[in-house]
Amino acid sequence: MKPPTIPFVDLKAQQQRLKGRIEARIAAVLDHCEFILGPEVTELEAALVRFTGAAHAIGVSSGTDALLIALMAEGIGAGAAVFMPAFGFAATAEVALALGARPVFVDVEPESFNIDAEDLDRRIGAVLTAGRLTPAAVIPVDLFGLPADYAAIENVAGRHRLLVLADAAQSFGGGIGEVPVGRLAPVTATSFYPSKPLGCYGDGGAIITGDDERAARMRAIRVHGQGADRSDIVRLGVNGRLDTIQAAILLAKLEVFAEELAARESLAALYDQGLKDLVATPARVPGRRCAWAVYSILTDRRDHLRQALAGEGIPTMIYYPRPLHLQPAFERFGDGMGSLPVSEGLSAKILSLPIHPYMDRDVAERIIDAVARALG
Ligand SMILES: Cc1ncc(COP(=O)(O)O)c(C=O)c1O
Repeated sequence: MKPPTIPFVDLKAQQQRLKGRIEARIAAVLDHCEFILGPEVTELEAALVRFTGAAHAIGVSSGTDALLIALMAEGIGAGAAVFMPAFGFAATAEVALALGARPVFVDVEPESFNIDAEDLDRRIGAVLTAGRLTPAAVIPVDLFGLPADYAAIENVAGRHRLLVLADAAQSFGGGIGEVPVGRLAPVTATSFYPSKPLGCYGDGGAIITGDDERAARMRAIRVHGQGADRSDIVRLGVNGRLDTIQAAILLAKLEVFAEELAARESLAALYDQGLKDLVATPARVPGRRCAWAVYSILTDRRDHLRQALAGEGIPTMIYYPRPLHLQPAFERFGDGMGSLPVSEGLSAKILSLPIHPYMDRDVAERIIDAVARALG
């Protein structure tokens, strides 16, 4: 008999544990009816400030809108170059283009899968030499939950006066040494998409910054650019608010978040141990704490492995099968196949395995055994 199918991310298991707390939080919102920027949004923002130690947290409508609003607050638009890793999610390129700026794709480090600061430096140089665009910002993406090398990035960005906008959609809860994600860059955008380490029950996100003036601009942009008097539209804005109900759900989930992060780490360690002789396991960088949004391995025999695991009820995902510079919507902003070799190589070999805080260790062991059988 075929073993039961394993969920890739099990949101139901988490809900069973937190059902009472989440329902009580939602019931409170239904009672007060302040559905837009209600008290739970303020309470969540205060909790995120406590969690990160940053001065400001702004709840917004999604991780994508967090990136968009953060770029809008810097006045980034036509003529600006926004640097980003080619191996990543579409949102970074999409927000730059939506504002009339140009995405410039940068290669990633082969082990960490994060933006390569040396390649960033080279590509900034190439943009300056071409003379058509002004380098304005870099968006490092903490891929799969591992924080990027912010010291090296800041070193390059600082020399060229670029804003560093961290895309921490996958890494919220991680950190470097004692510094949590949220304080690794001047501005951090994160996502509360349901399957993220801290996820809500719909779309949501947050922007975190230590800068008072930036925070004030971003708060205004979040509500149509309204000034202190709400009838004054003082700058171009959007409707980018986090729903009160989503904030209420996040408050209930934040109570167990630290425990969930520890459970993810312990499963990742089990995977590392069981898989290290079979495939390339994720990089462990001393001092860097990964939030383990995703656990990804590299193998030359990906299609074979994927099929074998599917046959045993084990789902896998490919994040990301195509780097951004080869995506139809973005290819005209890149230099085609061969221009970002590390990103291209990773896209051909990457495979993500199930991981979530409610996965039993014996399920992880079953997955390790299945990988060993398929590749043995
Ligand atoms: C790296 C990265 N950036 C940005 C986003 C966008 O977040 P959202 O789906 O909340 O808009 C995601 C979410 O999938 C992501 O993984």
